[in-house]
Amino acid sequence: MVKVGRNDPCPCGTGKKYKRCCGKIAAESRPRPSFLSPRVPVKTAEDIEGMRAAGKLAARVLHEACARVKVGTTTSEIDDWVLEMTLDADAYPAPLNYPHAHTDPRKPIIAPKAFPRSVCTSLNDVVCHGIPDDTVLKDGDLINVDVTCNLNGYHGDTSRSLLIGEVEDSTRRLAEITQECMDRAIARVRPGGMFWEIGDAIQELAEGEGYSVVEQFTGHGIGKGFHEPPAVLHYRDRSMRFPMQAGHIFTIEPMINAGTADVVIDDSDHWTARTVDGKLSAQFEHTILVTDEGHEVLTARPE
Ligand code: MF3
Ligand code: CO
Ligand code: CO
Repeated sequence: MVKVGRNDPCPCGTGKKYKRCCGKIAAESRPRPSFLSPRVPVKTAEDIEGMRAAGKLAARVLHEACARVKVGTTTSEIDDWVLEMTLDADAYPAPLNYPHAHTDPRKPIIAPKAFPRSVCTSLNDVVCHGIPDDTVLKDGDLINVDVTCNLNGYHGDTSRSLLIGEVEDSTRRLAEITQECMDRAIARVRPGGMFWEIGDAIQELAEGEGYSVVEQFTGHGIGKGFHEPPAVLHYRDRSMRFPMQAGHIFTIEPMINAGTADVVIDDSDHWTARTVDGKLSAQFEHTILVTDEGHEVLTARPE
């Protein structure tokens, strides 16, 4: 298990105690309890139809983009493909020009800017919100591609980690366990199930395998809004003791780190979130509907 003691030196290398450095930031950037209140929107039948279509499209775009990725691909090419496929389906890529959302209390935002591309591409130590650029993918890389489509006003949000070429066993294992974390959490989704169970399932497996769970980014309710209540925590937290109901739609998108859980947001682009210790991070994401029988994965991979 990778846990830094409150009084240990911070892994980011400042020489300060963890509790006065990244530990403080981690605590301060947890979602506000008000956002965790059980006021979770229940979708109408019409909304659910719209969300099925958006989810299906996002799943197809992710699948087709990932099928083209190989050694030598640039993250910008992935962005081109996602933009083109999304527009071809008469949808809009929700990340493009999405207003700046995240803050790092240590670094006041000087020039907050909207997300500039159509997809997030998060490579190796990038935890999430990587911005596509001319970076060339190489043998051994681990990349997460995160697609969100807005189709007729409804959002489908899904992502996966991809192994590039020949990867180290430890890289493959991190990706496999992260996918299994998501799958075990999805298996707990049912009416009357507790939101608490999601983080419980993820933390149990991740820490049992020697990994850590990122706390500073969460899953989220989703619908006409890209990010709606509730925040879906991927770790155990008492504030999540409220029940799932048929008609809830939310994402489960664990970010699992090979080293410590702490992340730091890039100073210059205000988006890219990296592990403080430079170790690998993996992520998988699905959009899930709670049904009377259990759940439906709205972004299930196309056959
Ligand atoms: N798709 C991300 C999520 O799962 C959000 C990306 S916000 C963006 O919630 F602006 F970076 F695209
Ligand atoms: Co999401
Ligand atoms: Co996403």
